[in-house]
Amino acid sequence: MMKPNTNYQKIPANYLFSTINQKVEQYKTQHPNSDLISLGIGDVTQPIVPAVIDALHKAVDEQASSETFQGYGPEGGYDFLRQSVAQHDFQDRGLAIDASEIFISDGAKSDIANLQELFEVNNKIAIGDPVYPVYIDSNALAGRLGDWNDQIGQWSDLTYLSSNEANQFIPKLPKQAVDVIYLCYPNNPTGMTLSKTELQTWVDYALENNSLILFDAAYEAYIQEANIPHSIYECEGATKCAIEVRSFSKKAGFTGLRLGYTVVPQDLTFQGQYLNKLWARRQTTKFNGAPYIIQRAGWACYQEPGNTQINEHIAYYTENARIIRAGLEEVGATVYGGINAPYIWLKVPNNLTSWEFFDTLLEATQVVGTPGSGFGPSGEGYFRLTAFNSRERTIQAVERIQAFFTQA
Ligand SMILES: Cc1ncc(COP(=O)(O)O)c(C=O)c1O
Repeated sequence: MMKPNTNYQKIPANYLFSTINQKVEQYKTQHPNSDLISLGIGDVTQPIVPAVIDALHKAVDEQASSETFQGYGPEGGYDFLRQSVAQHDFQDRGLAIDASEIFISDGAKSDIANLQELFEVNNKIAIGDPVYPVYIDSNALAGRLGDWNDQIGQWSDLTYLSSNEANQFIPKLPKQAVDVIYLCYPNNPTGMTLSKTELQTWVDYALENNSLILFDAAYEAYIQEANIPHSIYECEGATKCAIEVRSFSKKAGFTGLRLGYTVVPQDLTFQGQYLNKLWARRQTTKFNGAPYIIQRAGWACYQEPGNTQINEHIAYYTENARIIRAGLEEVGATVYGGINAPYIWLKVPNNLTSWEFFDTLLEATQVVGTPGSGFGPSGEGYFRLTAFNSRERTIQAVERIQAFFTQA
């Protein structure tokens, strides 16, 4: 008899975005003439830049001729892209990461979820809180997190690394040793970062405890400040304890095209096993590579004029983030993030819960954001606003929220 994976019954349904959609739809039905503005969803709005579109067209044309047609490609990615990534994202920054340590994929989400196949079920996991929910859910489905406690909204066998106002969004090292640590910087949802010294503390901890750090740098391209590490490999010893995941989604608007990569250093070894070899084995067994056409598009992001064009998009969203942050600060709101990330983390006023604030703001301003509690227990009492809407709509949303705060 087939026995389904019972861990699917254990994980709470992820109601966050479906509940938001439901509430928005209900609001629209009740107020058919309302003018809603979404600063909720973490998806980009600007079209793909012209140089990348050209690369896509060219790659499509190549598929039409037997001389240039591409069938199955290398599972870890084409050399032209692996080399470009290694050079521009690492070597140009003085980091000795080699193309053989880069594995191209169809995005960071699948990599993050799939990487947990490299470790046994009995590893102790620690995860930043609040955070992108995929780390928790993928480990829960593998049966690694114990039982879900609905009352406190936590897993019994998971160490939550709380980031909040009290610790200045710098999580404390776990009291008990953990085996695998998920860190995401710049952080989704808080938009906060760690300095190189703060990140080094985690690398030192991992080296001392033989732990693995899974570092999600999906928002690396948004870093503006000089003292913020772009890669965990800027920290001493990190190639011996860390895997880094990156994405083209928010960097170049590839949320629909799908492209990302994972760095698994050659010196990363635990109990005599080389994780680079394990990951290569995993990918060759279960993945047939990202599409050639999309990898060509990714490659164009590192060439000129593609590189300049995608940086203009990032600057556009970064300016939106600045406008939101400055606008909210002007009316006395407490806000975090929004400097090195496209997310602004607003402290909910008047002791409302995140969901109460969602409803109140929607009713009063027709602006949609995301309740912080949807990203983990430490997100309660906060609200995420994104910088991904157009300039015009972002400014309108800020004016409405300002009027709300001024009247409240
Ligand atoms: C922190 C973080 N990591 C990874 C992803 C997923 O990236 P991708 O689109 O490459 O799968 C997201 C998407 O929102 C994210 O916020």
